[in-house]
Amino acid sequence: MMRLDKYISGAGLLSRKECAKAVKKGRITINGIPAARPEIKIQEGLDEIALDGQIIPYMEYTYIMLNKPEGYISSTDDPSAPTVLDLVDERYSRMGLFPCGRLDRDTTGLLILTNDGPLAHRLLSPKYRCEKTYLASLAFVLDDEAINTLESGIILDGKITKPARIEIIGSTQVNITLTEGRYHQVKRMFEAVGNRVLKLKRTRFASLTLDPDLEIGEWRLLTDNETDLLKAAPEKTKN
Ligand code: URA
Repeated sequence: MMRLDKYISGAGLLSRKECAKAVKKGRITINGIPAARPEIKIQEGLDEIALDGQIIPYMEYTYIMLNKPEGYISSTDDPSAPTVLDLVDERYSRMGLFPCGRLDRDTTGLLILTNDGPLAHRLLSPKYRCEKTYLASLAFVLDDEAINTLESGIILDGKITKPARIEIIGSTQVNITLTEGRYHQVKRMFEAVGNRVLKLKRTRFASLTLDPDLEIGEWRLLTDNETDLLKAAPEKTKN
């Protein structure tokens, strides 16, 4: 059971205040009968809720794919700089979304915003070894020895990094795939082999690839298929 106004605001359609007004005007129905009060309890998934005759399907959680631009902080609130939440439509930003993991302020690319805490927790847990791929533009050409070192592991903060995969894209451009998300990990790994990351863009997160139609700063809801792919959590590993 949940409050009617929570159901409607959770669907991103109206704020709770707007919902109260809509109830007064008889615009909201529960199983075809105009709702009496915004705080009335409904059975989500069972009761049929409609606004102006349009059925509002029950969505427990929201999932957004964002192509993050430079200059935005991966957090929900920061007094000193715009956050990634500032980029999405207000009706979504008030749903309690948060970024699933962090990208540095100057990193661009694929970021998932959701309010599905349990899924985010699972995807970010080191136990699940969720793969992330980054396109890194480097200051110098990467030699075979450096590739080998990066792939087999580097000591960062006294702990060896998990195996990584490097794919050469151009003379100073590589894809690097990691299964961890340590602080500034990609930048620090390249620094450890005497290189420097000039630009960093995340192109893949778990089973999702950045939609090439999303311009920098653009976002869209995940399709049902993409949501299912994300929920098919990567296998839990033993070590
Ligand atoms: N590694 C980094 O160094 N920065 C990011 O934003 C993500 C991974």
